[in-house]
Amino acid sequence: MKMINLKINDRPVTVPEGTNILDAAKQVQVKIPALCYHPDLPAWAACGICVVKQKNSPKTLRACATAVTEGMDIVTHDPELYAIRRTVLELILSTHPDDCLQCLRSGRCELQRLAQEFGIREAPYGKRLRNLPPDTSTTSIVLNPEKCILCGRCAAVCQQMQGVWALEFLGRGEKTRIAPAADVTLDESPCIKCGQCSAHCPVGAIYEKDETHKVMDAILDEQKVCVAQIAPAVRVALGEAFGLEPGAISTGKIYAALRRLGFKKVFDTNFSADVTIMEEGTEFISRFTKQTGPLPLITSCCPAWTDWMEKYAPDFTENFSSAKSPQQMLSALAKSYWAEKNGIDPKNIFMVSIMPCTAKKYEIGRDEYMAASGVQDTDVVLTTRELARMIQSAGIDFNGLPEEPADDLLGAYTGAGTIFGVTGGVMEAALRTAYCLITGDAQPPSIEFNAVRGMEGVKEAVIDIKGTPVRIAVAHQMGNVRQVLDAVREDRAAGRKPRYDFIEVMACRGGCIGGGGQPTGATDEVRAKRTAGIYTDDERCTLRMSHLNPEVQALYKDYLDAPNSEKAHHLLHTKYHERKVYKR
Ligand code: SF4
Ligand code: SF4
Ligand code: SF4
Ligand code: FES
Repeated sequence: MKMINLKINDRPVTVPEGTNILDAAKQVQVKIPALCYHPDLPAWAACGICVVKQKNSPKTLRACATAVTEGMDIVTHDPELYAIRRTVLELILSTHPDDCLQCLRSGRCELQRLAQEFGIREAPYGKRLRNLPPDTSTTSIVLNPEKCILCGRCAAVCQQMQGVWALEFLGRGEKTRIAPAADVTLDESPCIKCGQCSAHCPVGAIYEKDETHKVMDAILDEQKVCVAQIAPAVRVALGEAFGLEPGAISTGKIYAALRRLGFKKVFDTNFSADVTIMEEGTEFISRFTKQTGPLPLITSCCPAWTDWMEKYAPDFTENFSSAKSPQQMLSALAKSYWAEKNGIDPKNIFMVSIMPCTAKKYEIGRDEYMAASGVQDTDVVLTTRELARMIQSAGIDFNGLPEEPADDLLGAYTGAGTIFGVTGGVMEAALRTAYCLITGDAQPPSIEFNAVRGMEGVKEAVIDIKGTPVRIAVAHQMGNVRQVLDAVREDRAAGRKPRYDFIEVMACRGGCIGGGGQPTGATDEVRAKRTAGIYTDDERCTLRMSHLNPEVQALYKDYLDAPNSEKAHHLLHTKYHERKVYKR
């Protein structure tokens, strides 16, 4: 790799060719302010706050969009640059409401932080608010264009990372605004509710639909038995809201916090991830060894992905695993199996899922299969961000909490369940169990399948199951899936056997650890730390294969009979069908 030598504020620095000035400056501990730039996205140079200069040159450069060149002599801070940045901020603030006190992003807003850093106290350009109404049409996210600073991050994420094209700029000049494509509502648009726009927005213009009040009301209702479940990826990210490093494993503290908030029982979605492997793994083995359905089998535990498939790739409906997501499995089991064991009427159970995900808010009401227990299985989904706010508002000292265990019957998990939180995890968990069930061996030669790990957009591998090759693909970040599906379509058109037997897809970059409901500020550096936390949690588990989970074994013995049984199908499986890309 060619290296480039330059100076930043008279300090020599050497960085790889192609590095932008903003990142080069970080090497010498200099932070250049930025607003529209995000390391996940190509620089768009929309806001102008990152201006810098070459020494002895009057010309300003945008540090986010300018690659370093040999011999550059960059000045990042001087009175003129300070004045330009301040003017940029004052102009942005002139069209931005001053209601920080009521804003969901207050305290974590990039614009608010810059306004504080620059000591902005006056409004020299007055106020020119646009009076644009919020779009509250989806059950997952809210778009408030009034707060939008037109940085373009959300449109770039939606179009380029996710390949959905649900958001775009409409209007011109002063009337420019961010809006769902074709100026319909978000609910009518192609949006798959992944929430990546909300996780990348620097301000409070796109955010999760806040449902904390519903949960507080249910907790106060004495007729209700409030029960919570937490998803794999939440445990390695929630701590960030309390000053912990990304990747810090807070499972026991989260159980403890939920009990202090008033939940009567706390279960773990990792348990139902193990159940998913029993159901989906059995489906795979049956299709693979007995040709009972089409291959490749495609995983279905990501609701943003299933929504995308139903809209953009309905020709793959038959390839989908009918297994529900772990969230929906656990809720259905809580309101049937657990309710029966404890003599509780499912109508009185209020089931709250804590998820890294905004799409899960949509999933709970997607069709009648989400009421397999006879009532709606999951009542409310809270994102990691919402749970953090609930803990903070209840005055709970999160870091001082003891580590508590989960409750019995639906709380025990294996390492295979926890790795559902990362890209490749569902596939790895399925392979661990499938290997044993196909060969009869106690465990695979290596419990870790490194070929499915890592941040490559599409990972392909051939797994040797004692002489039988299983051909797999793993895709994460929605925009990467088309190439995998197109390859299968190419095989179909040529009348060939499809090149993959099993495909895993997760809509978010890095999998759920990078979910749209996780604490904001995720970059690949943060995702890598959360991923490491998940793999550590797996390594710490005594049991690392789903079929060995004693509570899962008891569930089948006492209640479901066997994986894919009629009862298991009724509670734990669903159906998919084509949906329109635009509702109108
Ligand atoms: S939630 Fe996902 S699909 Fe919907 S607008 Fe945001 S980025 Fe696009
Ligand atoms: S909604 Fe947020 S991310 Fe999108 S353009 Fe506006 S400020 Fe930027
Ligand atoms: S990858 Fe995970 S967090 Fe992202 S949409 Fe899918 S299930 Fe939700
Ligand atoms: S951060 Fe560089 S132009 Fe916006």
